[in-house]
Amino acid sequence: MHGLEVEVAGIMLKNPTMLASGIMGLSAASLRRAVRGGAGAVVAKSCSSQPREGNPNPTVIEVPPRGLLNSVGLANPGCRELAEELRKLGGEVPVIASVYGFSPEEYAENAVLMQQAGVDGVELNLSCPNVEGTVFGYREELAQEVVSEVKRRVKLPVFAKLTADAGDVVSVAKACEEAGADGITAINTLRAMSIDLTARQPVLGNRVGGLSGACLKPVALRCVYEIAEEVRIPVIGCGGISTGRDAVEFFLAGARAVQIGTAVLYRGLNVFRKVAQEIAEYLEERGYSSVGDITGMAHR
Ligand SMILES: Cc1cc2nc3c(=O)[nH]c(=O)nc-3n(C[C@H](O)[C@H](O)[C@H](O)COP(=O)(O)O)c2cc1C
Repeated sequence: MHGLEVEVAGIMLKNPTMLASGIMGLSAASLRRAVRGGAGAVVAKSCSSQPREGNPNPTVIEVPPRGLLNSVGLANPGCRELAEELRKLGGEVPVIASVYGFSPEEYAENAVLMQQAGVDGVELNLSCPNVEGTVFGYREELAQEVVSEVKRRVKLPVFAKLTADAGDVVSVAKACEEAGADGITAINTLRAMSIDLTARQPVLGNRVGGLSGACLKPVALRCVYEIAEEVRIPVIGCGGISTGRDAVEFFLAGARAVQIGTAVLYRGLNVFRKVAQEIAEYLEERGYSSVGDITGMAHR
């Protein structure tokens, strides 16, 4: 499709839609399905040094309309095993690994493993609400330490994934840029909960989880808009995007590309192709020749 190519921190995408981390990103086979669904890039599930089982069930519940509350807790087979999976992906689209850790050093070690697996970039999950001790994105100094350590150890583009649960997400984004981040992904899920009226108890086994989907979009959009105003590095929008029109709002706010997670459930795996097609239609109808033509327009 014409005019959809974008460049993000030196990574070329055939269209600006990306699979968000944690949504079927645990194996080469499942990532390939997103590629076949039209994704311009894929982000793998966040991984840690050691395999992790995650939180007690239930870990995912639906929040109408078109939303989820999850406390999956970064369950993953460990970076070594996931790196072997990512190694199998052969250059069809850019692959971004997502790593987390309990210290800046652990983030960096995991990023090094992913670099050795041949990925195109690394996203630092500084913002998962479901694993205590890993939310380095709540505070500027902590986020900065992680980004600096990773940048010292790897040559790949590094993206810092942030949360609006941070007191001041814009300051955290600026701190990450100062520490050398090549891009910002905004945002992760927001801390939220649901209570069962019969049991009179929280529904999630972990009590609290992360909210995603349609209801997150206005918050994510506000974050992207404010971050894009303050940083020069590219911003990737994420949160509640399920249509081309949603994506266009993020471009107008200043996003260079968008990630899609929860909408895979509601529009199917072809959501990437559909959203890309809808973006192309928007551009064509209004006489724009590329996504770059409208990026950041809402700031002018
Ligand atoms: C079931 C589930 C698991 C997730 N796991 C991760 C993860 O491992 N790492 C991460 O950075 N984000 C994770 N996320 C957050 C998504 O990548 C995304 O930031 C969030 O869901 C908002 O986008 P969406 O509204 O399009 O889903 C997860 C989200 C869901 C719903």
